Amino acid sequence: MPASAFAAETLRGLTVAQGNACMGCHAVDRKLVGPSFQQIAGRYKGDPLAATKLVKKVKDGGSGVWGAIPMPSHPSMSDADIRSVVDWVLAGAPSPK
Ligand code: HEC
Repeated sequence: MPASAFAAETLRGLTVAQGNACMGCHAVDRKLVGPSFQQIAGRYKGDPLAATKLVKKVKDGGSGVWGAIPMPSHPSMSDADIRSVVDWVLAGAPSPK
């Protein structure tokens, strides 16, 4: 992927995360209420079904993977927005250059 396309995708994922209060419970590199986005990327590295699973988890919410605290559902987010934030998380939540 050309660097400029990568930067645009990265920025979109980050913008979705910031615009949907994800950062109230998640940080890129340290645990808050939920696991850090880098921890999540590490856990699902090499899992071809990760994106599908995590899109569903962000949309429907759930608990028990990282602990007892539930991840809230986000029924009003568009599938495209969820997909871009999940792709960004799985890429290790990079900052745009
Ligand atoms: C109220 C706090 C809260 C908010 C807001 C929140 N999360 Fe979470 N998130 C959590 C918790 C707690 C977990 C761990 C759930 C578990 O153990 O299954 C989690 C887990 C996750 C996971 C990993 C799921 C898994 O099954 O491994 C992803 C990806 C994620 N969150 C993305 C997001 C995104 C994207 C947003 C914004 C749209 C968001 N979260 C908003 C608390 C939150």
